[in-house]
Amino acid sequence: MKQTLLEELHLSLTADVPFISPKFFYDDIGSHLFDVITLLEEYYPTRTEQSIMDTYRSAIAEAVGACDVLLDLGAGNCAKASQLFNSIKPKQYRALDISKEYLEAAVADLQKQFPHICMSAEAIDLSLPLAFPDIAERRKIFFFPGSSIGNYDPEKADQFFINIASECHGNGGLLIGVDLVKDHETLNLAYNDPLGVTAAFNLNILLHVNRIMGSNFNLQDWEHYAFFNEAQSRIEMHLRARSDVEVRLSSEGTKEHVIQFKAGDLIHTENSYKYTQDGFTEKIRRAGFDNIHTWTDPKKHFLVCFANAKK
Ligand code: AVI
Repeated sequence: MKQTLLEELHLSLTADVPFISPKFFYDDIGSHLFDVITLLEEYYPTRTEQSIMDTYRSAIAEAVGACDVLLDLGAGNCAKASQLFNSIKPKQYRALDISKEYLEAAVADLQKQFPHICMSAEAIDLSLPLAFPDIAERRKIFFFPGSSIGNYDPEKADQFFINIASECHGNGGLLIGVDLVKDHETLNLAYNDPLGVTAAFNLNILLHVNRIMGSNFNLQDWEHYAFFNEAQSRIEMHLRARSDVEVRLSSEGTKEHVIQFKAGDLIHTENSYKYTQDGFTEKIRRAGFDNIHTWTDPKKHFLVCFANAKK
């Protein structure tokens, strides 16, 4: 496992456009920093999604209909899904995320509050195709909040939606939160907060990589760089070299590699795509959903959507 990660990181850092996969953001510090980001005034997605969910709780439940199994994709601390339990009333709740230990603790806690719901925690890699053969016949509602879909490239998002639609087997659907295109000032500020939490979140990826690869990235050599790329409709996050930098990648038992970066060189760390409401609904329609319900906030900053899988 470690060797594969090392190879993956080495390839990505020596690619024509050097990048580090955003999955490396989420070590212990990175996960806590992300939690802080969601509390920031400038980072509107979390609180806007929450306000839409609160305002339209019963309309959302009505659109969703009967829920045999609620599948929480990227469940984290399960807090968002648990707020749906009283309105959507799932018979079964399956929390899915990359780290099982963390999930198990959250699910054990929830189980005490909702003893009548059958709960489980499962480790899952959301970048791989999903399959749920054991519950093929049951009406499934997939829950994917927080605009996590924004971190998928558009083609990858299409594949993901096709996969989910097909796993519904003509019964069930997808409840999803999506960040919308808006004025550039609001978008840029959300990823360049004055407190520097997003900058710390971005820079921390280098500390994580140092730990995995035994590399010697020095945080003082790099700065956070994030902007809205209008042509691609995405926020791009990069790390920019403050001066010429030489980085050594080495780990016990592996060959040492030295990578040279020039002042101003970039390492691409994340894309966060922003959709228009029509563009998004068209996208999921093409992937195999219809009867699409949408809810948004007064400023139209964020979209919550429930789409039924086509019969
Ligand atoms: C997790 N994801 C939806 C966040 C986003 O907005 O794309 C990650 C993030 N990156 C910087 N700030 C937040």
